[in-house]
Formats: sequence, structure tokens, C-alpha cells
Amino acid sequence: MQAEIIRAPAETRCQDELQRLQAWDKYPRPTGWKLSPRAVEKFILGDAELNIKPKYIGDRDRIQVAIATLASDRALLLVGEPGTAKSWVSEHLSAAVSGDSKLTVQGTAGTTEDQIKYSWNYALLMAEGPSDRSLVPSPILTAMREGRIARFEEITRCVAEVQDALISILSEKAVAIPELERIEYAKRGFNIIATANTRDRGVNEMSSALKRRFNFVELPVLSDLKQEMAVVRQRTQEMLADHELHADLSDELVETLVTVFQELRQGQTLDGEQKVKTPSTVMSTAEAVSVLFGGCLLATHFGEGAVNGQHVMRLLVGAIAKEEKSDLEALTEYLETVAKKRGGRVWKELYETRRWLKSL
Ligand SMILES: Nc1ncnc2c1ncn2[C@@H]1O[C@H](COP(=O)(O)OP(=O)(O)OP(=O)(O)O)[C@@H](O)[C@H]1O
Ligand SMILES: [Mg+2]
Repeated sequence: MQAEIIRAPAETRCQDELQRLQAWDKYPRPTGWKLSPRAVEKFILGDAELNIKPKYIGDRDRIQVAIATLASDRALLLVGEPGTAKSWVSEHLSAAVSGDSKLTVQGTAGTTEDQIKYSWNYALLMAEGPSDRSLVPSPILTAMREGRIARFEEITRCVAEVQDALISILSEKAVAIPELERIEYAKRGFNIIATANTRDRGVNEMSSALKRRFNFVELPVLSDLKQEMAVVRQRTQEMLADHELHADLSDELVETLVTVFQELRQGQTLDGEQKVKTPSTVMSTAEAVSVLFGGCLLATHFGEGAVNGQHVMRLLVGAIAKEEKSDLEALTEYLETVAKKRGGRVWKELYETRRWLKSL
């Protein structure tokens, strides 16, 4: 892999794992699939014997439903709070099923129907009229032609009319191109994985005609301390490795950080004994990963190398104060009422930052 690339797609990053699974896979594959559903499941959830790292940590049932949906005539919609690994799972599912996670439409308020169906190369269109050469297929049309998975990120951010352009694609599995007097039919293996964030414009605003063409799979916020610790540790270590850095992540540090996230998110201490103020900002697992990774960078470049509670705290402040500065009060109060009482080095390091916090 070229070292200069910041982030290679999943099929490149996990090439070795995908090859191992292909060699192992004796199960029937749906037409157009690179792996059987069972092998796709192993790719997503990990397998110690085949040395496949888990990509998603969480509920096996939901992942099985997601994979089975992709082999059906319905499309898959991954829904959930921000940072619950919707895009991450979508990318890895497409890489495993069709060996390509790059056929992606990013939904925004400005997404147009062209980006879902096809557009034109205007210079060629002027020179030779509508032709195969002048037609620019959307990632979805390409996926239909090749029998692969297309990804539609943040589908609910698009306006309803644009979302509805998908209805005919999902029910007819075809796109009409009147300029070329032709209809293109999807090859087997084609399907769509869409993601939608419940904090954005609601999924409820999708038309019911479109909703009926999707199976919804919700990816929940992790509420189990050990599971969330595993995600934060593993993802931070992977990011450090990508940056050719190394940091020792003590269990105590990871546990303390994840506890802070869970308690602020839930509005009470983990033992349920004490209420705490919840900041308005989303305290997602993804945010915890970036706080810990940022802490490691501070420690590496400006500290003695070992990452501690104070490094992490400096990043946490930015993560919490993103939407409203008053959220910092929730953090200060948490330090005074919860962190202060707790034993252990990292809790002390967190508590010691309160004076500096008040001066912000
Ligand atoms: N349960 C989990 N298992 C593994 N990784 C997780 C889990 N939850 C979150 N992550 C990590 O969080 C990071 C962010 O996930 P991702 O960007 O896919 O979130 P998202 O749900 O698409 O968020 P958004 O709604 O903001 O787009 C990824 O690096 C992913 O590895
Ligand atoms: Mg996403």
C-alpha cells in the first residue's frame, strides 16, 4: 500500500483477511457475491481461528439481519445515533460482499437526481450527442451494471424528491435512459446500503413508499462498559498504527475515559446512585476514540510519551464544548461531584484539570 495515502478503502486495508476468507469459504454464495453470508459475518464480527479482526463490536443478530437483507430484494438502511459505526459497517459490508466499497453517494441537501442516476460529460454531449461515451453513470448505476453494492450515506439529508428517485431503482431494479432509448437492468449482486443519522432530519420524513423498500437495522449506542472499552482501545490502536506511532494505553485510562463518556451520556453514574448533568452534544463512541487518539498525539509530541488523564482532558474539552460552551459547566460539575470522589491515578489527573477548565 502506498504510504502517502491517508486512508485506503476497506477492501485494500483488509485485503489479506478477505483473501483468507475466500480460501476458507465453502458455503454457497448468492449470485454476484464474493463471499458467502457466513464469511461476510466473520469478516464483520471477527474470527480468532482465521485471524480476522472484529470490525464491529456488538450484536451478532443485527449483523446477520443486515447481511441477509443484502441477499434479498430489499435494500438495507442502517440507522442510529451519530458515531455508532453506521458508515463503518456499510463500508466493510460492501467490501466483503462485492469487493468494492467505493461506489458511494454522499447525501447532502444539495444532492440531485443526476447523482443517483446519471449525468453527462457536456463537452462530449455537445460534440457527439447522447452516447455511451458522453453518459456519466452515477455510482449507483455503476453498481447496477456490475452487480455490486452501492452505498448511500446520510440518505435523510437529501430532499424528498431526490430520495424518491430511488424508489423506481429499488422496485424495478432498472434505470430508464430515455436519451439513449434504453433501460438498464441491474445485475444480480446489486443492492444498496443506506445510512441515516437519527439526530439529523428524521427517518420519518422518508416517504412511506421508499421506507417499504428498505429493511431497517438499528446500530445502538454501546451501553456495555467492556464492549465500548474494546472499541475505543482497538480503534485507537489501529489509528496509532496507521500513523506509525505507539502509545501504551493502560486499562485504567481507557476505562476511566469510557466511564466518563457513559456517565455523561446516560445522565447518571454507572452504579445508578447519582444523577449528573448531560451535555447537549453527542457523546459518541467515535468521539471517545478521537479524544483518546488526540491525547496520544499530545503525549507523543509535547509530553514524555506516556498518555495520561490530563492529555485526554484537554481533548475532551473540545469534544464537549462543540455545540454549546455551557456544556463545559456540565463537565466541571461532573469533576466536582463525581471524579473527585473516585480513587485512582487517572481520576485524580482528570480532577486536577478543573481549575484550568474554569478559566476557559
Ligand atoms: N460498535 C462498534 N464497533 C466497532 N467500531 C465502532 C463501534 N461504534 C463506533 N465505532 C467506531 O466509531 C467510528 C465512527 O463510526 P462511523 O463514522 O461509522 O459512525 P456513523 O454511525 O456513521 O456516524 P455519523 O452518523 O456521524 O455518520 C469508527 O471508526 C468505528 O470503528
Ligand atoms: Mg456516517
